Amino acid sequence: LVTVRQIYKDREQYLNKEISIGGWVRSLRDSKAFGFIVLSDGTYFETLQVVYHDTMENFSEISKLSVGTALIIKGTLVATPEAKQPFEIQATEIVVEGASSPDYPLQKKRHSFEYLRTISHLRPRTNTFQAVFRVRSLIAYAIHQFFQERDFVYVHTPLITGSDCEGAGEMFQVTTLDLNDIPKTDEGKVDFSQDFFCKPTNLTVSGQLNAETYAMAFRNVYTFGPTFRAENSNTTRHAAEFWMIEPEMAFADLNDDMELAESMLKYVIRYVLEHAPEEMSFFSQFVDKGLLDRLHNVLNSEFAHVTYTEAVELLEKHNDEFDYKVFWGCDLQTEHERYLTEQLFKKPVFVTDYPKEIKAFYMKMNLDNKTVAAVDCLVPGIGEIIGGSQREDDYDKLTARMDELGLKKEDYQFYLDLRKYGSTRHAGFGLGFERCVMYLTGMSNIRDVVPFPRTVNNCEL
Ligand code: 4AD
Ligand code: MG
Repeated sequence: LVTVRQIYKDREQYLNKEISIGGWVRSLRDSKAFGFIVLSDGTYFETLQVVYHDTMENFSEISKLSVGTALIIKGTLVATPEAKQPFEIQATEIVVEGASSPDYPLQKKRHSFEYLRTISHLRPRTNTFQAVFRVRSLIAYAIHQFFQERDFVYVHTPLITGSDCEGAGEMFQVTTLDLNDIPKTDEGKVDFSQDFFCKPTNLTVSGQLNAETYAMAFRNVYTFGPTFRAENSNTTRHAAEFWMIEPEMAFADLNDDMELAESMLKYVIRYVLEHAPEEMSFFSQFVDKGLLDRLHNVLNSEFAHVTYTEAVELLEKHNDEFDYKVFWGCDLQTEHERYLTEQLFKKPVFVTDYPKEIKAFYMKMNLDNKTVAAVDCLVPGIGEIIGGSQREDDYDKLTARMDELGLKKEDYQFYLDLRKYGSTRHAGFGLGFERCVMYLTGMSNIRDVVPFPRTVNNCEL
């Protein structure tokens, strides 16, 4: 079987030749003596028109088929210079591989994204989701290529862990204990010594702490895998299960970190524009008007840089426009992040040097003793897409900060060892993969860029 992609990419080889192709009916219309099928085989964003005639012995059977039917079609590929599409197949034989029942939910009309979320097993057959999930696949590949070209080592950090990297307590516990009959210690606490790992464990919220250990051996590493957060945030940007890319570099500071982040985002934008031009112009036309112009502008300019303190000063002037008022020390909300990047800078922005109180324990303390060497990258339409920092590499300062926060040193022994055995400045960041897909496609809900989304109150399929 040839594919629609092969036909489009290598048309001279197939024109006026007999070919066989397999695919699914997107739409079908017939008149007395002939009919048209629009066929999608999933290999390319374009569909293929098939013409069939009543000279075919199963003509009437074909004309009654429902949308969604799987077919194998034999015929000649002919050029149709006057038509919308550059060619069509004149069918000589159509074999019905699997009929689709007439109650097939995807009819030719436009369905809302909300409705399509309720049939996440079928929505990849629509053109929007064909585009989204092909681009998602390409972005993943581009990210690997970016890091591999720079000799970063891909580290597989564990999904089950005993630590809470971000210290936010938003973890899914992992246990084999029988919830109806939880073993208790003499003090009445849950007896985790009877659990599988003999201690409390959870799904990882970030691979960073493990990645740091490999950075201290390989210098430059990255992770790319699923992470889990039991945040009770029912927004268009939060998922309970999402993928994260976390590079970590030894002998690097916050500036190196930002340079890497900017190069990576630009590399990925360039890659998808080059490798999915049809999908990208579809998004720019039907999903997010002007997306292509915006992405081209990003490629042709530098990201903005502000400190948290400067950002707060800028935002305070617009406090009457915000639901949540800005003040020094507050955690920036999405509305503030979006205001900075959409109204004030109109491009991606790095915000650096946040108050230590609103950031994680591992970030390097600045000389002012109030802020840490943190960086968030904010982009229009989304807000935070990347969070990173230079890490505290001084043993004493790190343990002092852990004491302040009440973190138990024995839980982080491996991490403290890094500060004991050949410590050096190092930095890294986490890119939310789904937010990156949203940014590049213009899709506005995280549920529409994950094949099978897991969000508060939703774990279907
Ligand atoms: O800012 P975060 O929490 O940073 C970390 O986890 C660090 N350990 C990263 C590092 O320095 N290695 O998360 C990083 C990114 C965010 O900027 C956001 O894009 C994404 O992960 N993210 C989420 N994406 C979807 N759903 C959620 N619930 C997310 N939480 C964070
Ligand atoms: Mg963050």
